Amino acid sequence: MEEFIIKTGTSESKIIIGESVKNLKNYLPDNKKVIIITDYNLKNNYGHFFNEFDVIEIGTGEENKTLATIDKIMGKLVEFEADRSSFIVGIGGGIVCDITGFAASIYMRGLRFGFVSSTLLSQVDASVGGKNGVNYKGFKNMVGVFNQPEFVICDFELLKTLPVNEFIGGFAEIVKHAAIKDFAMFEYMEANSDKALNYDSAAIHRLVSDSVKIKSNVVMQDEREKGERRKLNFGHTFAHAIEKLSPVIHGEAVAIGMVMAAEVSVKKGLLSLNDLIRLKSLIEKYKLPIDTDIDKMQLFQAMKKDKKREGEDIHLILLEGLGNAVVVNMSYKELEEIINDMC
Ligand SMILES: NC(=O)c1ccc[n+]([C@@H]2O[C@H](COP(=O)([O-])OP(=O)(O)OC[C@H]3O[C@@H](n4cnc5c(N)ncnc54)[C@H](O)[C@@H]3O)[C@@H](O)[C@H]2O)c1
Repeated sequence: MEEFIIKTGTSESKIIIGESVKNLKNYLPDNKKVIIITDYNLKNNYGHFFNEFDVIEIGTGEENKTLATIDKIMGKLVEFEADRSSFIVGIGGGIVCDITGFAASIYMRGLRFGFVSSTLLSQVDASVGGKNGVNYKGFKNMVGVFNQPEFVICDFELLKTLPVNEFIGGFAEIVKHAAIKDFAMFEYMEANSDKALNYDSAAIHRLVSDSVKIKSNVVMQDEREKGERRKLNFGHTFAHAIEKLSPVIHGEAVAIGMVMAAEVSVKKGLLSLNDLIRLKSLIEKYKLPIDTDIDKMQLFQAMKKDKKREGEDIHLILLEGLGNAVVVNMSYKELEEIINDMC
């Protein structure tokens, strides 16, 4: 077991790697009402570990990550007589954690909360860093808050019941962490793909731990994403457009998006062709896609519609060598020319 503390402003969040959901009670306050927010799959597989508490079950999938679900949760919290001293625990993947953090942050102006993170993606990314929120009118994560959970339990045993494509999708964010910040981790991933894909606990522990370390350090430097935290978006500007235009899961879109961002890095003279090939082959080793059939100019148009754009410029995260990301301010016009060239 390993612990990381994320300290930001006045809050402190403890990430416990390799802990079990069976020990959840050790992290809960004594004599306070505890309410669990989870989804059907988690309740079905692991409900026996938490059914002594009041449980709010939400639907699965992005279509449930909405204000309507938050509204239902508020109703349930009132029904369960949650008060300012109550503690909320989200048990699930990124969707459950994003929704739980938001609901806990706004009910009665904010209750204490923690997570048991049950997908690889949420253990290495979604549950770490304090971004909580929901989608709004088709735009991802448009409404939300920054607020750190008191604890995040990352239980590797839970990953064994995760659908295989969801498990594999989580490796995209791990490759991202290695590509933007840690060349030694990149080399470790190259050498240990078989172990990691076969749920080898030492390999999973190392990759989750390295990812949490990287993300925690970035979040502590820049919680509100004004600078350094933007680097965690490597591949994501392309990925969000890919997700809008095709039915891929988030990890697959991120994998393709990272390749596209690396290709732009080559065009800008920041990354060698050899390193681009190395990144592509690492992504393929983890059984993730490196290309899409979507027309690249259609993709560019979808990127331009991104609600998070800032005027005529875009902050693109590029690689200046493997293990080193840079934030490059580029006009949409220049990006269009580069993508046109890539076609
Ligand atoms: N807050 C952040 O910083 C941040 C970062 C990255 C992603 N996200 C968000 O995370 C979400 C995606 O999260 P995700 O990839 O974890 O998907 P998810 O939460 O949708 O979970 C995927 C599926 O697996 C099921 N599941 C989860 N754990 C399981 C387990 N242990 N056994 C069996 N089934 C299980 C879920 O019920 C669901 O059907 C997106 O909405 C994304 O926006 C947030």
